[in-house]
Amino acid sequence: MTDPRPTSAFHTANADPAVTDRLVAALDVQAGNAGVRRLRGWAHERLGARPGERALDVGCGTGSETRVLADAVAPGGVATGLEPNPGLRAVAGRRAAEAGSTARFLDGDALALPLPDAGVDVLWCERVLQHLDDPARAVAEFARVLRPGGRIALLDTDWSTFVLHPADPGIRPALATVARANAATPDAGRRLADWLTAAGLGVDGLGADVLLHDPRTVSGPIVERLGAQALQRGLIDEEQHERLLAGAEEAAARGAFHLSVTLFAAVAHRPR
Ligand SMILES: C[S@@+](CC[C@H](N)C(=O)[O-])C[C@H]1O[C@@H](n2cnc3c(N)ncnc32)[C@H](O)[C@@H]1O
Repeated sequence: MTDPRPTSAFHTANADPAVTDRLVAALDVQAGNAGVRRLRGWAHERLGARPGERALDVGCGTGSETRVLADAVAPGGVATGLEPNPGLRAVAGRRAAEAGSTARFLDGDALALPLPDAGVDVLWCERVLQHLDDPARAVAEFARVLRPGGRIALLDTDWSTFVLHPADPGIRPALATVARANAATPDAGRRLADWLTAAGLGVDGLGADVLLHDPRTVSGPIVERLGAQALQRGLIDEEQHERLLAGAEEAAARGAFHLSVTLFAAVAHRPR
């Protein structure tokens, strides 16, 4: 049977444990990033999950935010992380058990949530919409499962804000092109309020922060991946590719490497 869910790196890769390990490592690095932590903190505060509530974390990855929600809704509430990638779901379950968290995890798809109408008090969806071909449909689905008065937080990246230094001005457009090509909807970040209002939800707050990498690390996998993709697509030549990698290494050794992308958040509610 073919998988009816949209194809993304997360779906196509989910049978390969080595790829899952890489995803977990990447999500862990991001979870430790100061900008990600600040924006998550802002969104959790605005969302205001309370004891006794039913929380849903769509595309929960390793379940870090499902555990935060589980703590917030205790006692008496329940936090569920929905995650289609079986490898990530297993990691999320194991980590929750190790942490003594009541968070629980389900298979499922943002585009067809396996939940009845109006049964969710608070919904979290972070950096998932950028991987979907039809994010507006997913947000309509979120609105369906939220109870009247229920709250929602969407957090996502906007890949047009990707900045890498050093990189010759001549190859910056190529890098911007491949950075955007890695997401199905690369400008998700700027569209959060648009999708929320289109789904009939009332926006209560917008936030932003920057995912800024440590200037002492070259952020090897990202630079290597983008460089290789630009080379493969004929957007840069061998010499430009080598200069990109060498320049990144040299800058990192001086603590002068720069790689950043802006993250946006929107918090909203379903009108009563
Ligand atoms: C960048 S990760 C973000 C994980 C987590 N929300 C976080 O911020 O750490 C993207 C997540 O979206 C999930 N995902 C991809 N397509 C999905 C879909 N159609 N429905 C639900 N989740 C999906 C992936 O499996 C992955 O866990």
